[in-house]
Amino acid sequence: MIQQNVSLLPYNTFRMDVHAAHFAQFSSAEQLQQLLDTRISGMTGNRLILGGGSNVLLMQDFNGLVLRNGIRGIECIGEDEDYFYVKAGGGEVWHELVEFCIARNYMGLENLSLIPGTAGAAPMQNIGAYGVELKDVFHELEAFHIRERRIQRFSAADCGFGYRESVFKKQYKDEFVILNVSFRLRRKPIFIISYGAIREELEKMQVQDLSVRAVSDAVIRIRQSKLPDPVQLPNAGSFFKNPLVSRFRWRNIHENHPDVVAHWVDELHYKLAAGWLIEKCGWKGVRRGDAGCHEKQALVLVNYGHASGRDIYDLSEEIISSVREKFGVTLEREVNIVGAGG
Ligand code: FAD
Ligand code: EPU
Repeated sequence: MIQQNVSLLPYNTFRMDVHAAHFAQFSSAEQLQQLLDTRISGMTGNRLILGGGSNVLLMQDFNGLVLRNGIRGIECIGEDEDYFYVKAGGGEVWHELVEFCIARNYMGLENLSLIPGTAGAAPMQNIGAYGVELKDVFHELEAFHIRERRIQRFSAADCGFGYRESVFKKQYKDEFVILNVSFRLRRKPIFIISYGAIREELEKMQVQDLSVRAVSDAVIRIRQSKLPDPVQLPNAGSFFKNPLVSRFRWRNIHENHPDVVAHWVDELHYKLAAGWLIEKCGWKGVRRGDAGCHEKQALVLVNYGHASGRDIYDLSEEIISSVREKFGVTLEREVNIVGAGG
């Protein structure tokens, strides 16, 4: 059923109180097709697919049709000597999928614990955290081509995964709805604990025997200590990507700032911690009305109450300009900006 003039406040973690002219939820590919085939008189705007709304900045009222993915179901669809294969409906809550796998000792998703949002949105930006990216455990997905009304299967190679990137965010933007995603999860225990503070956290927890549960708990504890809970302080996680710069640019910054936080990528490139760059420009904890740069993690922009999409966007513009001026590095937004009418 298509509803009219629906507030999107409960459906985005920045808690932007904008309205969708038309809104519906679907729980199967057939329902999605029916909704797409429904003629809506007077509709001027586009369509917007929404999962958990944890990676969008809604700038203003949306004139088109918002379609919320409610396809549920998690099942083990097969196994072989080395792997279990698990399929999740696109509308499944990501962390519930992680819990499903941890409970059965299927290995691979534990480092991605507690990332907000849905399974269907996870391939969009190849979600990542603590040394693991979705692409490392991805098997395949099925997506619905909106214009041609057909279902297409994508392998990992078809998805063009990169750092916070995929074909769905770039060349196929707004063309497909991801219906379900399948994962390939290890039987053999291989724990990835060298990244960030996982090892230290495991020590603090006095873990003797490593397990998927222990790694997941450590990741959850670190995340909760750093990242604001959107229920208490609305946000969409990292607002910008960590920028990839040339070795030359890195050396230039390093000469003046030996404490720059950077990771070697290859002979020619380094990845810089955007949070460090933003903090060095003096933004950490800064508030402009109700829009702010988080006091513990400068990469996260927050809404203290009634900030509008424009307020958050303007703050992000100021941050981009000052980082460019001071370091000669242009930050790219990670969050998807959604304007009026799509
Ligand atoms: P939405 O915000 O609803 O949508 C995001 C984009 O995907 C939109 O463009 C939307 O149109 C599109 N989309 C959504 N579902 C589909 C679908 N089924 N088919 C086609 N297009 C679709 N991300 C990380 O990678 N790592 C992190 O560690 C991380 N930490 C976070 C912490 C916090 C506190 C928050 C708030 C966010 C964090 N994020 C992180 C970002 C976010 O959780 C992920 O990007 C997540 O995958 C978004 O899922 P969603 O369902 O909320 O997507
Ligand atoms: N830092 C600062 N000041 C800050 C924030 C960070 O100096 O205000 C420096 C610190 O030295 C810190 C380093 O930056 O050691 C890295 O910070 P952190 O470990 O918090 O990770 P991040 O690079 O800021 C990335 C992802 C997160 C992911 C974490 C953990 C991006 C854009 N962000 O953040 O993903 O959870 O690593 O793997 O790659 C998201 O995408 O929304 C997200 C939260």
